[in-house]
Amino acid sequence: MVQLTENENKKGTQKRDYQVVIQKVSKSFSKGSRDVKVLEDINLHVKKGEFVSLLGPSGCGKSTLLKIIGGLLSSTSGKLSINGKEVNSPSKSIGFMFQKAVLLPWRTVEQNLILPIELSQGDISKASERIGELLELVGLKGYEKYYTKELSGGMQQRVSLARTLMTDPDILLLDEPFGALDEFTRETLNFSLMDIAEKSGKTVVLVTHNISEAVLMSDRVVVMGINPGQVLENIFIDIPKPRTDQIMATKEYADYVLHIRKLLGVGR
Ligand SMILES: Nc1ncnc2c1ncn2[C@@H]1O[C@H](COP(=O)(O)OP(=O)(O)OP(=O)(O)O)[C@@H](O)[C@H]1O
Ligand SMILES: [Mg+2]
Repeated sequence: MVQLTENENKKGTQKRDYQVVIQKVSKSFSKGSRDVKVLEDINLHVKKGEFVSLLGPSGCGKSTLLKIIGGLLSSTSGKLSINGKEVNSPSKSIGFMFQKAVLLPWRTVEQNLILPIELSQGDISKASERIGELLELVGLKGYEKYYTKELSGGMQQRVSLARTLMTDPDILLLDEPFGALDEFTRETLNFSLMDIAEKSGKTVVLVTHNISEAVLMSDRVVVMGINPGQVLENIFIDIPKPRTDQIMATKEYADYVLHIRKLLGVGR
């Protein structure tokens, strides 16, 4: 198994190649009269087009870190820069997708998809063409006029993914996007997401609880520890792409999974 530290992997990589740079980011929340440190000294450099998964126990601060990257939450200390610029508010180059589809049930699929363009007061004249392309991409062509309440949970998450892509963000921040779905639907959507990421070259930061899914999908798995949330190890997954489920039968895949299980103290 090829396992590189982040520093080793940086050899030959220039600073400008990194799209998301997180330096010594910490976050505390006040609980009653005391401050509780949720994230401590997080360092993370993500390259353009890289697919990174954040993996760790419940409560280790994955969602908090994603919200900080997305500018939805400010850090207590440390620096965040995106495309070389320091940021502390939501950036246009970022698309955020939450665990539960936040769709408007009184709007049709196409009306939900157009929402981010309306909110950013963008040009809606070209929207219908883009809606068609995106629905094709997520496998929902023909559902433009359906109300979202008429769709299954998996279909709603597909709409949610399409809506995240609507403004063509460079960076996708996905917080357990398919976590609430059954295994079959989740796997299918994972493969759709991998295709989209590979074809578009978008940078993806995905929060997941699922070790095998993280290894299958990612260029790198960032394993986090808890109390306070911290990066335990960066594991670069050196398996060629595009990946199919065939790789799940290989020894190198099993070695990555076992290594991460050990790090997280899973199994016996
Ligand atoms: N707004 C908030 N105010 C106070 N504490 C918070 C807030 N948001 C998160 N926390 C605390 O921060 C810690 C990390 O929460 P976070 O939601 O980031 O964890 P997580 O790794 O995403 O967990 P899960 O896997 O269960 O989604 C938890 O202890 C939580 O109670
Ligand atoms: Mg979370």
